[in-house]
Order: sequence, then C-alpha cells, then structure tokens
Amino acid sequence: MAELDDIPQHVSTGTLPGWDAVENLVREAHAYARETGDGDIATYIPRLAQVDPELFGVSVAEVDGAVHAAGDAEVLFSIQSISKAFVYALVCEELGHEVVRERIGVDNTGLPFNSVIAIELADGHPGNPMVNAGAIATTALVPAASADERWARIQAGLSAFAGRRLELDGEVYTSEADTNQRNRAIGTLLQAYGRIEADPLGAVDAYTRQCSLLVTATDLAVMGATLADGGVNPVTGERVVAADVARDTLAVLAAAGLYERSGEWLFEIGLPGKSGVAGGIMTVSPGKAGIGVFAPRLDGAGNSVRGRLATRYLARALGLDIFASEAREHGPYPYSREKPS
Ligand code: DON
Repeated sequence: MAELDDIPQHVSTGTLPGWDAVENLVREAHAYARETGDGDIATYIPRLAQVDPELFGVSVAEVDGAVHAAGDAEVLFSIQSISKAFVYALVCEELGHEVVRERIGVDNTGLPFNSVIAIELADGHPGNPMVNAGAIATTALVPAASADERWARIQAGLSAFAGRRLELDGEVYTSEADTNQRNRAIGTLLQAYGRIEADPLGAVDAYTRQCSLLVTATDLAVMGATLADGGVNPVTGERVVAADVARDTLAVLAAAGLYERSGEWLFEIGLPGKSGVAGGIMTVSPGKAGIGVFAPRLDGAGNSVRGRLATRYLARALGLDIFASEAREHGPYPYSREKPS
C-alpha cells in the first residue's frame, strides 16, 4: 500500500475539481483501500456477523448534486451509529442549540461508544450525542405523543437527509433488540440521573430502530452532502434542517464523531465524520461534498478500516482537509497589503 506522502495532496480551493477528476479519484481511492484486508467484522449484534466482509463501496456527493461512486456503493447495510448525527440534527432543529447543549453536551468523553463509566464519571451527564448515552437521550427528546409517532418522525427525517425513503432491516433490529441489554442499562441509568424523563426503554427501542435503517454508501454521501450544503439536500432540493443546525452537527462530529479516536481522525483526515459498526462512515466537507463509504471490517475502536483509508485518500486528493493550506502567492516580499481605495 502507498505511503501517506504518495497520495497527491491538494489544498482546499473552495470547489472540487471537475467531474472526470472526481470520478477518477473516487475509483483510485477504492482501489487503494481495497488492498488491505485488515480488521474484523462486528459480531456483538449477531445478524451483523453474517455480512460478506469483502463488500466495499465508496461514494462522493457534491453540493451541486453530482454523485460519483465506485465498488459496492449501492449495497444496503444498517446505518448504525451514523444515525446519531441525523437524529441530533433533527432534535436541534426542534429544540435549538442551547437546549441540546445543556441536556446532552458536546464534549468528547474520551471513552468507547457504549461506556457506562463515562456516565458515572460525569454524574449522569451523557457527554455528547454521538456516544450511546447521549444518542439515547437525544432520541428521547424527539417531540412525539407516542412511540409510533417518534419512530415515524425519525424515519421520515433520516429519509429526507437521504432523499429517498429509508426502510428498517427487521432482522438487524430484532437481532440487536434481543442482545442490547447494555443499551437498556444505559437508558435506565440515565433515567435514574433524571436525564430521560419518561420511558427510557422506549427511547432505547427507538434508538435500536434508527440504527437498523438500511442505507447505501451513496445514501451516506447524499446525507453528508445535505449537512455540507447548509441543510438542503442537494439532490431533492428539500431544506431538511437550518444552516445553523447543519453547522452545529458538524462541530459535534468533529469533536466526537469517531468517539475516543476523534482526534486521530481529525489529525489524519481533517474533516468531521461519523462511523457505524456495520462498516459505514459518513464524512462531510462543508460547502463542498459528502463522502459515504462501506466496508464491514473494523479497527479496534469499531471504525471501518477500508473506509478510513478511502476517506483519507479522498480528503487529500480532492483538497478537502479543512486544516491544509499552502502559502498564497502575492509578491514581492516583504509585503504589506494596503487598504483598497
Ligand atoms: O448501540 C449499538 O451498539 C449500535 N446500534 C450502534 C453502535 C455503533 O454503530 C458504534 N459505532 N461505531
């Protein structure tokens, strides 16, 4: 596999290169990351253990609606934790920036996604909406008069981000619902701390359903492009959330989207992203594009190995890394810019 320095590095210019260049780079990123067979598929949700570990898709959706894909980009898989980003955005849209910041938090816990200790150490505060405690508490905040209404709003909201109706994978849902004692414990612990007011197990059930929605890598790219496009889905034209909400969601993803590995992810990729245990990763380049990847083999923190490599390739080669810059030419030096007359 090529070293990092061998991947052409371009800095952000405000737009992506032309259609053919993006198309080629998506194919190159796919070929590059396919070289590794590292990582293991998730097995703690029994249904996920049955997936073909070789599946691998990469997709980029630009904010002008262009979509570029390579490999298994149209294969369905469960969205899992990536749903947390979108339910957070929907709740922010309903309740506002301050309510969600105070009730859920926006700081990295520094601990794994399903940590119970993190809740105890923070005196019951969930920490952020990307770990399970914060996600379950966020799902409980979706305004609804009944469990059915809550689920209908979540399904419709995530579908609006994707630009098509997302369906539940009943087998994944049942498999997780049968084995999610830990999440039920987290929900009940949050109730004991007064962080969930009513029916914590109902909130866990809605959370389990949202994780079981089926998406493709291209869906993730379009969902990410909606966050990149100030909350407007660039394929359907629908405003899904306000621009401020899209911005807030990306800030939280930068801090906590990859859990305790969020710093390493920002250091390597330089973009906000969110991973799921089925092998999806969604990454957002604000104002430019969303990247969706799917490859089921995961690293020790539960993030897709091929997905991370392909995303890193694209962040560099498409000039998306928000931290990368190069000196602007404006001589002669020493130079002092004067106020235009
Ligand atoms: O809560 C769970 O265990 C799953 N439904 C989602 C976990 C997940 O995707 C963690 N992400 N990397």
